Amino acid sequence: MRHFLRDDDLTPAEQAEVLDLAAALKADPYGVKSLAGPKTVAIIFDKATLRTQASFAAGVAELGGYPMIVDGNLAQIGTRESIADVARVLGRQASVIVWRTADQSRIDEMAAYAGVPVVNALTDQFHPCQTLADLLTIREHLGATTGLTMAFLGDAASNMSHSYLLSGAAAGMHVRVSGPDGYEPDPAILAKAQQVAAGTGGSASFVAEAKQAAEGADVLITDTWVSMGKEQEKADRAEVFQPWQLGADLMALGAPHAIAMHCLPAYRGKEITAEVLDGPRSVVWDEAENRRHVQKAILTWLLR
Ligand code: CP
Repeated sequence: MRHFLRDDDLTPAEQAEVLDLAAALKADPYGVKSLAGPKTVAIIFDKATLRTQASFAAGVAELGGYPMIVDGNLAQIGTRESIADVARVLGRQASVIVWRTADQSRIDEMAAYAGVPVVNALTDQFHPCQTLADLLTIREHLGATTGLTMAFLGDAASNMSHSYLLSGAAAGMHVRVSGPDGYEPDPAILAKAQQVAAGTGGSASFVAEAKQAAEGADVLITDTWVSMGKEQEKADRAEVFQPWQLGADLMALGAPHAIAMHCLPAYRGKEITAEVLDGPRSVVWDEAENRRHVQKAILTWLLR
């Protein structure tokens, strides 16, 4: 039984296969009915969402399946009953379980007991569906991923930073994550990314200076400075993260063809300026659309 719980659950070759499938599904959205029946996909949210719910629901429908949205506030998974018991119940109702939750250990436990594939729709540690969408977007705009440099600017200790390290390394990219003191990536994840990169010709590093990280980058990426669950730190973070704001100055340090990415929701004037987010180098709406195509691909691939 295969799951997609973190980016390195796919080997580099498997990641490329899923991205190729996503591109094919994007070109022919109704051509594959891997959820015909309709098969049910349980899609559970313990946290806020727009893009993830919309793209999974639409994608499951396009594959001929039924998206069963489960409100985590009602299910109270791990409180009203154990994660293992929820997994056993949902695994008998659904062909795949998709879950947005808090700690990675929760989705690991779901996968251990579900008896069906489980997909991570964001945890505190990883957001692998988002980074797959971003890799597809990079392929579309820059023609490839191999050998390109990606700079993630902001909270380098965040789930997005971790997922870019692992997924970018698998895609043969040179991944630089950059953030203030105290916001460095998990050393174990950075080491894993470096190990993966050694096999793909890429690299993975933490860069302390935002300008150094942006220098010559093909892709400049940021995300909210206040990840879900960190809202009480909002004021402190606004000050300490200011040098990492993705504005025209950092974009100018990138390659002439550099693109700007943000997984959304975005806060103009905080982690990214309106000029960049709404400007000609921004590909954020393609990223949001591509969530549907890559998620259809990963669901189809897991069920094969
Ligand atoms: N990017 C992303 O995961 O969006 P949502 O939080 O709205 O689902």
